[in-house]
Amino acid sequence: MIAQRPPMGWNSWNTFGWNIDDSLIRQMADFMVDAGYLAAGYEYLVIDDCWSLKQRDADGRLVPDPAKFPHGMKALADYVHSRGLKFGMYSCAGARTCAGYPSSYDHEFVDAQTFADWGVDFLKYDFCNFPSSGNCKARYLTMSMALKATGREILFSACNWGQQEPGQWMRQIGAHMYRSTGDIMDNYKSFTDIVKSQLDKLCMSGSYCFNDMDMLTVGMCGKGNVGLGKVCTYEEYRLQFTLWCLCGVPLMMGADLRTLAPEYKALMQNKTLLRINQDIECRAPYVARRDSVCVEDPNPPEGVGPWKHIPDTAFILLRHLSDNEFALFYANLADQGAEVHGEFVDLGLPATSGIALDMTDVFTGEHIGKVTDFYNPHIEAHDCKLYLCKLVKA
Ligand code: GLA
Repeated sequence: MIAQRPPMGWNSWNTFGWNIDDSLIRQMADFMVDAGYLAAGYEYLVIDDCWSLKQRDADGRLVPDPAKFPHGMKALADYVHSRGLKFGMYSCAGARTCAGYPSSYDHEFVDAQTFADWGVDFLKYDFCNFPSSGNCKARYLTMSMALKATGREILFSACNWGQQEPGQWMRQIGAHMYRSTGDIMDNYKSFTDIVKSQLDKLCMSGSYCFNDMDMLTVGMCGKGNVGLGKVCTYEEYRLQFTLWCLCGVPLMMGADLRTLAPEYKALMQNKTLLRINQDIECRAPYVARRDSVCVEDPNPPEGVGPWKHIPDTAFILLRHLSDNEFALFYANLADQGAEVHGEFVDLGLPATSGIALDMTDVFTGEHIGKVTDFYNPHIEAHDCKLYLCKLVKA
């Protein structure tokens, strides 16, 4: 049984793009194991686009580029497996991959068998150059069946960028995760836009078929293949990682683990955040509040008070975890610090309930204790707070 909980791993695209080879993947495998990522749960090592030759062989099979992968894919898969990891590869539902390499349209069964023969455990399946006359759902189903027909257990990571509301049918066609948006870029706007677009759709995500909000950019700090725009701060990356964990979506790292700063390694191996992400009940968070933060305007227009509202910046999410525990998340997505007001009646706890939340701050470890009625933390710009909570008598 695979993908009972959100899949976790590393993917080559965000940092390396086309610049991939056998020795890089072996080094990353070693790093995932030696630096504790596998022990933390990151088990899939995935090669993205740009691994093959531009032509199939005489038998119509995909061929690994011998300049990049001189030992072939079976040997590389064997090495990855020998380190206790699972091995992932990439193809595309269209006529060519996004980078122009051959892809699997009308070759689904031969390609799935090739991947199975190499020992592949995970297939990311992209959507570039898909014929306009083609039937997207049918083609993803075809690859799903082709993978099943090999008899090998292969996680099917469908990547059609949210076309045709994938949450409505990817579970039915057998996909284990489905990309729901365009590509993430390594900046604050990109990942917050992704989250905002998916919050109301996460109810469709759960065991065996997860909404994939794309690979993490945590710790990339502008290096690599998707480094467009302003480099993120530590707090912004913490916000990204916390949201991916809270939303219960796959955690596919994209940074170069070999050169990752220690604070980002610690963040992506944070036991509490990973426990929330991997919670057995796989529930999406409940959106308790989503509106504006209110900040002081240093130069208010004539006749208007000193307060201004910044739309779609105040977020409070409540996630039910197993064993009667809750994760309570506050974010301030505005460009200025502000108090984010949280009324517990919006969490199902009216003042008459006689029930308090016993709260612990996940980032500082501080035990805040019993809180009733409301909690209004001050949150810096582009930052968040996360609390683990239990229900207690007020
Ligand atoms: C698309 C996908 C990305 C990546 C590239 C590779 O853009 O969405 O995640 O796989 O293709 O070319």
